Amino acid sequence: MLFEIGLLVLTILLYIYYEVTKQYGFFKDLGVPFLKPSFPFGSENGKKMFLGKSSIQDTDVEAVKEFPTEKVFGYFLLGQPIFVINNEELAKKVLIKDFEYFTDRRTFDTADPIANAFLTNLTGMEWKQMRSMLSGVFTSGKLKLMAKHVDKVGKNFEKYVTSKAETGEEIDMKVVGGLMTLDSIASAGFGIEVDSFKEPENTFRIMALTLVGAPGYRSSLDNIKIFFYATLPKVAKFLKIPGMKPQAVNFFSDILRKTYKRRMATGEKRNDIIDVIVEELRSTKTKKPQTFESDFEKDAALDTSGLKDIRETGLDEEILLISNALLFFFAGFETTSTGISIICHKLALYPELQDKVFQEISEILGESEDVSFEQLQEMKYLDMFISECFRITSFLGALERKCVKDYLIPNTDVIIPKGRFVKLYTKDISLREDNFKNPNDFDPENFAPENNPNKFGMMLFGQGPRNCIGMRYALMTIKITMVYLLRNHRVVRSGKTTDVLEVDPANFNVFKNGVFMKIEKR
Ligand code: HEM
Repeated sequence: MLFEIGLLVLTILLYIYYEVTKQYGFFKDLGVPFLKPSFPFGSENGKKMFLGKSSIQDTDVEAVKEFPTEKVFGYFLLGQPIFVINNEELAKKVLIKDFEYFTDRRTFDTADPIANAFLTNLTGMEWKQMRSMLSGVFTSGKLKLMAKHVDKVGKNFEKYVTSKAETGEEIDMKVVGGLMTLDSIASAGFGIEVDSFKEPENTFRIMALTLVGAPGYRSSLDNIKIFFYATLPKVAKFLKIPGMKPQAVNFFSDILRKTYKRRMATGEKRNDIIDVIVEELRSTKTKKPQTFESDFEKDAALDTSGLKDIRETGLDEEILLISNALLFFFAGFETTSTGISIICHKLALYPELQDKVFQEISEILGESEDVSFEQLQEMKYLDMFISECFRITSFLGALERKCVKDYLIPNTDVIIPKGRFVKLYTKDISLREDNFKNPNDFDPENFAPENNPNKFGMMLFGQGPRNCIGMRYALMTIKITMVYLLRNHRVVRSGKTTDVLEVDPANFNVFKNGVFMKIEKR
């Protein structure tokens, strides 16, 4: 018996070894430079990440250090070959001009129909249908209506800020930005008004943090699950490992279902995401006219030829509503709160620039109590400040695409085969001398129109048709947060403020020493 067990274990180990190492010759055969792999973690940069010695964001930074001048090179994550593109022109081709070869991203095929219907998880025509439908959710007209909900949350935030100015406590702006973001999503996304500033332990917030696996609400088991889905998706699905926490999914699905049913029955309207998604789903137009309010949006234009009706996906309206509303959390919560914390950090480090942001806010607001979407649009210096924060601290690392048909890299004889993953390394583009007036310093003037900034220099929201669909919503929340933070108060350095924000290798959404500062009354 012992012999049979030993034999079985050995066979399994040999199989794993074979599976992980079978593609180690991939880049050599293609003639593409690569970081040598070793069993089981792959290349050294991947090994550091898996062992918690570097963050996910730094995985590509580490790789580029090895090949700083190569336009294209490769590395291995476990047994998976990954192409890296470190060249602005080629990156633009992959993201925009030759997008038809790179329409997909890494997907997580789970046993859960709600997660499988996430826009982030869709591919090919299904993705295009859903993307086209959802683009109607984030137009200026719709955002203008949603801004009212976020504005209300901003007022709760301001009361909280006042109380912290009175006590003189240090606050962690990542945590506080999280309260603001979460209450905004609750209201603008789910039709629920909570005040997490007063009652941080409310069920909605606890469930949301559980859902996204925020620090303190995730276990090492969650990391193993994500790892499984990223590397052995078929095994994970076969074993029915849940992609999301069932308790939290049920909680939110229940709220959405009840709200949806009530609104259908009563005709009640609140102009939040629930209303907007249902409106878009029911719209008879399958090919929406595309309107572009910036170059970023123009570059994201969808080729809608052959597009069918979203209803032909076979997914029912309720599932689509639930999955898209939940995606708000997954895609928008940690990203927006981290963004807020980075901006606050820079405000505290550069008081003279903070004064300029404040001046603009107070001139535009005048005596008005509320903040409107139109007023936010006028805040051009705030725009520049935010863009510069995100250029200098690009906290999400490289973008990723999946090649969906063989792609001959222009001016080479290298073909990226269908099915391979490609990372677009954008950090150098953001810091290049010829792209910005003052590339190495924090200087919002880098984004002044007269200084001719390179629009690809701030890639935090991605680029091209698969860019961040929620960017305008995120910026609206961030700007409202800044208005309510600064119009009567200022943020200042405190004992725990660090000069540099360092990502925690164990959790890419967390800064090692927090983002602490103090609030003072103006
Ligand atoms: C500061 C906040 C945010 C940042 C930095 C951010 C960043 C990103 C990035 C880098 C991508 C991938 C883009 C690419 O591959 O080219 C993305 C995709 C996406 N984001 Fe955001 N995001 C933010 C907020 C939001 C919010 C609030 C939502 C709410 C709806 C959202 C929804 C999405 C979705 C659905 C996708 C996938 C789009 C697709 O696959 O077609 N994001 N985001």
